Amino acid sequence: MTDVITTTASTAHPNGAAKTGPLKGLVLSGGQGSRLRPLTATGAKQLVPVANKPVLYYALEQLVAAGIEDIGIITGDTHPQIEAAVGDGSAFGAHITYLRQSAPLGLAHAVITAQEFLGDSPFCMFLGDNFLKQGIAGHARQFLQSKADAQILLKRVPDVSALGVAVLGDDGRVMKLVEKPKTPVSDLAVVGVYFFGPEIHEITPTLKPSPRGELEITDAIQGLIDAGYVVESSLIDDVWIDTGKKDDMLEANRVVLSTIERRVDGDVDSASQVVGDVVIEPGAKLIDSTVRGPAIIGAGATLRSAYVGPFTAIGERCELDNCEIEHSIVLCDSTIREIGVRIADSLIGKQVVVERSAQRPRSLKLLLGDHSSVGLV
Ligand code: G1P
Repeated sequence: MTDVITTTASTAHPNGAAKTGPLKGLVLSGGQGSRLRPLTATGAKQLVPVANKPVLYYALEQLVAAGIEDIGIITGDTHPQIEAAVGDGSAFGAHITYLRQSAPLGLAHAVITAQEFLGDSPFCMFLGDNFLKQGIAGHARQFLQSKADAQILLKRVPDVSALGVAVLGDDGRVMKLVEKPKTPVSDLAVVGVYFFGPEIHEITPTLKPSPRGELEITDAIQGLIDAGYVVESSLIDDVWIDTGKKDDMLEANRVVLSTIERRVDGDVDSASQVVGDVVIEPGAKLIDSTVRGPAIIGAGATLRSAYVGPFTAIGERCELDNCEIEHSIVLCDSTIREIGVRIADSLIGKQVVVERSAQRPRSLKLLLGDHSSVGLV
């Protein structure tokens, strides 16, 4: 059950009517992922794993759990990867329609792109890089039962400068929405999960590009308010993470790992220890190693004389040899070998090799992609 603290309607509109349902889903999975470079130089940001599962999968699962099965996914340049990862949606109990966005021209542009798919249906738009711990079922139910033309979720956050914010009136109504405010006008951030009725399609064609050159969804919602439509807002107490940056990914990883239950399907030799809530996937091998949960070791990974500490997700087929790592995410097929210091707070991509080199001169030998960052001790 999602945790809704307060709900406030913006204004009564004579056209406000109960929805006929069912809701369709619109998941946004385009964009550049510039804040997660270099990982996203080659991969879609929505496929970066949280507890060894792409962040996008959580959105799809939560939509299906809310009874939303007819889902359109907006894709951009990374379309082939998204389609390869999600397929026709049957693995999620969903039916997926892929909608190619010509360019990343904004969230409201994505709604325009999806207009034919959406038809007259009310829908839930879920940003594919946003993570909510408790899902959206309660919010979806609330929207379907209400007469609102749109429903947004708000969360108090300390820094709103990179987000959309809502300004509420004394009576709690949404008065104004501002995208990425230069001076903080409110601490109520607009969460990347929105519910709309078909009225939104009257507003989107009237929008003009914002200073960053995008058609903003905040402007579209403002348009609904200005036209007298009913926009409800719910202040949520759920964990909400916009997983655009490394530390956000680590936080989402921590949140999910703290809910996992112990399951050991791999091989653990007698010299190894598995402590607490740890998932060891089939085919993973622990040789003279310790894993202290909460942590997950992906299928086919091998740990030799290694220590994996709390809040760490090791991807499939990784090789860890004589090293220590905690509070980190390692994507699949990477190797970490003979490292004398503990690795922590790190996000390591696919097929990465981190190893001690015997070669002289004794020096750091780095091959790093653009926008990489290395923290040395
Ligand atoms: C977008 C929206 C913003 C919202 C945020 C949530 O920002 O424009 O209003 O608060 O998602 O993740 P963007 O990711 O496009 O910077």
